[in-house]
Amino acid sequence: MTQPDAIRANALADIAACESSNALEEQRVALLGKKGAITEALKTLGSADPETRKTLGAALNLLKQELSEAIDSKKSQIAMLELNERLANEKVDVTLPSRPSTRGSIHPVSQVIEEITAIFADMGFAVAEGPDIESDEYNFDKLNIPESHPARQMHDTFYLQGNGDGKTLLRTHTSPVQIRTMQGGKPPFRFIAPGSTYRCDSDLTHTPMFHQVEGFVIDKGIHMGHLKGCLIEFLKAFFELSEVPVRFRPSFFPFTEPSAEVDIGCSRSKDELKIGAGSDWLEVLGCGMVHPNVLKNCGLDPDEWQGFAFGMGVERLAMLKYGIPDLRTFFDSDSRWLSHYGFDALNIPSLVGGL
Ligand code: PHE
Repeated sequence: MTQPDAIRANALADIAACESSNALEEQRVALLGKKGAITEALKTLGSADPETRKTLGAALNLLKQELSEAIDSKKSQIAMLELNERLANEKVDVTLPSRPSTRGSIHPVSQVIEEITAIFADMGFAVAEGPDIESDEYNFDKLNIPESHPARQMHDTFYLQGNGDGKTLLRTHTSPVQIRTMQGGKPPFRFIAPGSTYRCDSDLTHTPMFHQVEGFVIDKGIHMGHLKGCLIEFLKAFFELSEVPVRFRPSFFPFTEPSAEVDIGCSRSKDELKIGAGSDWLEVLGCGMVHPNVLKNCGLDPDEWQGFAFGMGVERLAMLKYGIPDLRTFFDSDSRWLSHYGFDALNIPSLVGGL
């Protein structure tokens, strides 16, 4: 028997006898590896005479190919067997109860967004979304805040590299969703837009990332009475009070005219803040009638369509409602804080079931 035939006779039998992918891999190394039988045999060619070198070399290379094909086909055969074995042995009993020791909870920011959504959904508001990364056109220009407007400085904007033209930024408020929605559809509009917002500001009462909920209504014949009624109803539902003193204080936003800030009545004692009564006021949101320029910027005729908009800070509302004293703890990712202030995941807020 020639050398290649001798190797082949044993090798094919050994490969066929393999029962696991590990055993097969051992065989592959023993035959084709750096120190394997074929490799060793090929090394002897150097000292052989030219004629032998030619025939033996060709035979060894053919054998090498034949063996690696045999190994490959055995490999897929074994893989199939091993998979079937695993499928037969590994079972998950989906009827087992969940482990009581691992309890997650809902972050107050998510909870409050859910609560706000439930209240406005009941008033017929849809939920819209926009991207966190915005253009200065949507975040400012189209909202009637031109380049030179002092309000741009007030926003402490994070600009991004973008195309290097200074026009890409992290949205400083959820108001750009007003523009996106108006451009993407036909009036009437009635939606809220919850989401993350960013300002380059960090101290006791500011975090660089925070959350807002925008509200937006466009229809025919909408006036300030609708705005006031809607927000008063919201505040009563949110703070779960049958009556709540509300004050609309004249203010300024470039994208609304007239604009107002909304305060709710409260009382402050040494270490307690009570919402709903008392001689103090607490600012909770900004609002106004949508500025005609904003409507025009989105192709709407202000003589035909009017509306109102409002924006509220989610963390601020969460702190007031749930007595959370420090804003910065919201984003510490401290599981003890979460298990104290977090909410049961199965307790989904609804107006009927309670917020
Ligand atoms: N976008 C404003 C802010 O972030 C809030 C606001 C929204 C005011 C809509 C009026 C109308 O300060």
